[in-house]
Amino acid sequence: MLSFLQILTLFSLIIPLYSSPTPLHFIKRHSFHKNAINSQPQQYFQVTRPLPFDSLNTSCTLPIVTHNFSNTYGLPPVSVPYSPPLNCPWTDVVLEIQVSCQGEQYDRIAGVWLSGRELIRTSTAEPTEDGIFWVVRKDVTRYSSLLAQENLTLSMMLENIVNDYFTGVYQVNVTFLYYDTSPHPAPAPATAPAPDPDSFDPLIVIPGEDEFYYRTSRKLKSVEYPLSFEVNYEKGSFELYDRPADLILPISSSGIDGFWFRIQNESDIHSKRVEIPPNTYRAVIEVFSSAHGDDEFWYSNPPDAYLLNVEAKESGSKRGHGAYREVLVKIDGDLVGSVVPFPVIFTGGINPLFWEPVVGIGAFDLPSYDLELTPFLGLLLDGKPHSFTFEVADGISFWLVDANLHLWLDAGLMEVQACIGSSEPEFTLERESKFDGLGGKFEVEAERKAKISGWMNMAAGYFTTSFEQKVKLENTVKYYNNGLSKLVEQKVKDKSEFTIKSGNGEVIFYTSTKREYPLKLNTVTLPGREENTYQMTTKLETSIEEKKTVGESSSTLKDRQECNGWMLVKDHDVLSGGAYTHQNYSFKDAANCYSRIVVAENGAVLGDSSSLLCVHSL
Ligand SMILES: *[C@@H]1O[C@H](CO)[C@@H](O)[C@H](O)[C@H]1NC(C)=O
Ligand SMILES: *[C@@H]1O[C@H](CO)[C@@H](O)[C@H](O)[C@H]1NC(C)=O
Ligand SMILES: *[C@@H]1O[C@H](CO)[C@@H](O)[C@H](O)[C@H]1NC(C)=O
Ligand SMILES: *[C@@H]1O[C@H](CO)[C@@H](O)[C@H](O)[C@H]1NC(C)=O
Ligand SMILES: *[C@@H]1O[C@H](CO)[C@@H](O)[C@H](O)[C@H]1NC(C)=O
Ligand SMILES: *[C@@H]1O[C@H](CO)[C@@H](O)[C@H](O)[C@H]1NC(C)=O
Repeated sequence: MLSFLQILTLFSLIIPLYSSPTPLHFIKRHSFHKNAINSQPQQYFQVTRPLPFDSLNTSCTLPIVTHNFSNTYGLPPVSVPYSPPLNCPWTDVVLEIQVSCQGEQYDRIAGVWLSGRELIRTSTAEPTEDGIFWVVRKDVTRYSSLLAQENLTLSMMLENIVNDYFTGVYQVNVTFLYYDTSPHPAPAPATAPAPDPDSFDPLIVIPGEDEFYYRTSRKLKSVEYPLSFEVNYEKGSFELYDRPADLILPISSSGIDGFWFRIQNESDIHSKRVEIPPNTYRAVIEVFSSAHGDDEFWYSNPPDAYLLNVEAKESGSKRGHGAYREVLVKIDGDLVGSVVPFPVIFTGGINPLFWEPVVGIGAFDLPSYDLELTPFLGLLLDGKPHSFTFEVADGISFWLVDANLHLWLDAGLMEVQACIGSSEPEFTLERESKFDGLGGKFEVEAERKAKISGWMNMAAGYFTTSFEQKVKLENTVKYYNNGLSKLVEQKVKDKSEFTIKSGNGEVIFYTSTKREYPLKLNTVTLPGREENTYQMTTKLETSIEEKKTVGESSSTLKDRQECNGWMLVKDHDVLSGGAYTHQNYSFKDAANCYSRIVVAENGAVLGDSSSLLCVHSL
């Protein structure tokens, strides 16, 4: 996304605009779509799998926001009160966002929060003269404990600019859909096992400048638990851990300009102090992040030294600082986990014609990243507030980062006792840069390994916990043909494992996530016939492969896009062009398979086939 300042430069033209080979963010001009066959608004979509309850009728629906986001830049989010619907049994919840837009507009970033906890990070598609619309549906059941609470505030932020030049207003409806998937007759809503209200004062939230304190009155009675307390040793799974959290705390900003922290550079550190209830037995931090401005295409940024070289000759680009980024999460100044985010490409990115009407992977529902903090409970359970900090290693302006802290509470105890064991962090970062004039090759290799163990004593017994994370990034940015051609190749691998063992060493819970997301981008730029125009021919291959294991069940996701196209560009405006996008999506878990292949060319869907059959090659 462009920052406001960058947009201003479009008008002033005092500062030269990004010239070849750096411009990667564009807008489609009306002249471009003049000859389109369509005159009806067109539906855009992100390829995903159906949700398990798509075929069910809702128990109830709650339309919550209807808003036209026009000139909202710098304004606070739209906020409305939220309470769950009355007399409506539910077990699962979907957040649905419907958007329509007509005119000329850049893609914009948006977020929805419930009392400061982010439910979804989404971005918009760039509209056309005939108009476009789309629907995003996200399963938000993991926020059930929050969604069951009354008198919360739902906020939505979508920073848009509308003027003579950018005319597209985003018309948005946000609706909660509640489903009851329990075997009938329906039991109470999915908030179990909640503390007995008679023995537990509700948590009191005291919002301060940048702090939330959670006060628990220690009135909880000690309850004798039957030995079988939700622990199923035979199946080798610890079912207690496989349900939505009991409490979700926001690790986010005050909300004046969105609840995300705006991280401007590598030394721009944002913190929030949080105190967690003493009976917490599991903690997971869910991190949301998106890269914008000069870092929107961070994985293709050359080192500053090369940029200075280019800048001296022709360009005003600040998209530099090399191509390694990592979102770091620290508690009281110590690193507890990190995320190398999947490179989500927004609909104005690289070649906007790639993303009509199929948007890039994650563009309508940006992935969030879970980091296990349970082994750190020994540090967090001292009844004191702790400082949670976000940084972006090597980051430049700007990143939007915040997180939800998911906590599971032991209803049988006032206090869980926990202790941190050994920790073995390792980090290596190697860079190699070679350049001569506008040609050059830049390589980065970063690897982080962390292993932490701990133990805890809770109602169900004594357990040891261990968390292991390994993140590896390999990136090459190459300029050739006097800087007019650029090749970016990136590989990211992320593996994390969390194990709980009983007192006698038996594994009672295991979960792991393995992700790989390679990206390959090849761009050739040629000067156009008219002044200030150039033609870019681009090939992009991007994919995500994810394997998740919880206990004995696992799921595999493979999602791959291959795009080819060209465009004639003046400044940031696409004047003409053609593009082809091919996407393969497949998902498999113990119960289901789903695969879908979509082919789009020049804004039209040429093929879209899906199947529920399981293919063995997965
Ligand atoms: C959903 O509701 C419709 C109309 O009330 C009904 O005909 C249909 O059988 C219901 N479907 C399911 C899956 O319950
Ligand atoms: C949004 O704008 C459209 C078109 O101008 C209008 O019809 C609609 O009523 C507006 N909606 C809201 C919620 O203001
Ligand atoms: C939002 O809801 C209103 C009322 O149901 C509907 O008329 C409108 O088309 C919806 N807007 C979008 C973008 O789907
Ligand atoms: C929510 O607000 C209503 C109206 O102010 C109030 O009657 C109710 O007790 C509140 N509920 C909670 C859980 O605070
Ligand atoms: C980093 O960003 C912060 C916040 O905008 C600013 O105050 C600080 O000067 C910047 N530091 C550097 C080294 O640019
Ligand atoms: C998608 O799958 C088909 C059939 O398996 C294969 O021919 C094609 O190359 C794949 N395309 C991409 C972009 O992965």
